[in-house]
Amino acid sequence: MKSEGDGGIVQQKGSSIMNNDLSGTVVVQTNFKGLGSKRQGKVRDMYDLGDCLLLIASDRISAFDVVLPEGIPGKGYVLTQLSKFWFDRLWEAGGLIPHHVRTMDPELYPAACQPYTDILAGRSMLVEKADPLPVECIVRGYVAGSAWKEYRQQGTVCGQTLPSGLQESDKLSQPIFTPSTKATVGHDENISFDTMAQLIGGSLAEEVKQVSLMLYQRAAVLAEERGLIIADTKLEFGLHPHTKALMVIDELLTPDSSRFWPKDEYTPGRSQPSFDKQYVRDYLDSIGWNHQPPPPSLPEDVVYQTSQKYVEALERFV
Ligand SMILES: Nc1ncnc2c1ncn2[C@@H]1O[C@H](COP(=O)(O)OP(=O)(O)O)[C@@H](O)[C@H]1O
Ligand SMILES: [Mg+2]
Repeated sequence: MKSEGDGGIVQQKGSSIMNNDLSGTVVVQTNFKGLGSKRQGKVRDMYDLGDCLLLIASDRISAFDVVLPEGIPGKGYVLTQLSKFWFDRLWEAGGLIPHHVRTMDPELYPAACQPYTDILAGRSMLVEKADPLPVECIVRGYVAGSAWKEYRQQGTVCGQTLPSGLQESDKLSQPIFTPSTKATVGHDENISFDTMAQLIGGSLAEEVKQVSLMLYQRAAVLAEERGLIIADTKLEFGLHPHTKALMVIDELLTPDSSRFWPKDEYTPGRSQPSFDKQYVRDYLDSIGWNHQPPPPSLPEDVVYQTSQKYVEALERFV
């Protein structure tokens, strides 16, 4: 059920999952007037505010790179708050390149945003505009997902040979950096470090690799203290359009970009329960969807369970 809301927002009324910021409105799309041109990713709506960008995490969810028709209550809030947690905590110790966040306080956003602060609060950030590097920077501490598939078939992960005898979900002796392309349509493709170096230049490739590994390692320690394993995560980098300074952009260490596993249930030799959209993927596979548009609708209980997974991930950290 969709309706045109006051702020020009296409809303879907969902059941309230928490009695605080998450209650009520599920935002599947925004259509704010007076905010400059809008771009829409699978999950985020981005408004060009001149020298900066307004990044809004909607409640959209994608699976197998296809956006599903239903929004997930609380999802945009969870993604934004988790990113905020990491941008705050991981930079505390210093020694890192800058990140793109200017502020997440809607009162400090430009005047044109002020009519929309009710919707923006908690799910948006004002960020530096960047030219995104055409690669996704993935760090893996454990063998899971596509990495496990490749290892099982060829003994490699993204072309890097790993020791023999690893089981599914095993911890690697040290985290590895496994970049991929950033496909504008369709699926990302794993590439070797050398290919990445050809794409963006050797010294830039080396720098993003080192920053990616450092962020993963810092995050893994914080997660461990909270009883969670970060199996892998995807980071994005961009260059400031004028100064060309490198910065960390996009979301950071959320269930959409990372695999989080509860430590107390961790058992190598099988796939692990996780806080990401595995629940949704399993449902979609159980009904035999071929992963091609149009996507099927999600039943209410699947929406609810997914929402709970996201909220639980946030509660573990914040
Ligand atoms: N600071 C930034 N400047 C420019 N683009 C950015 C910035 N931060 C994130 N982005 C881009 O915004 C988009 C975020 O929207 P999202 O819905 O997550 O897209 P996607 O479908 O590519 O995952 C991504 O394409 C990301 O590269
Ligand atoms: Mg994204």
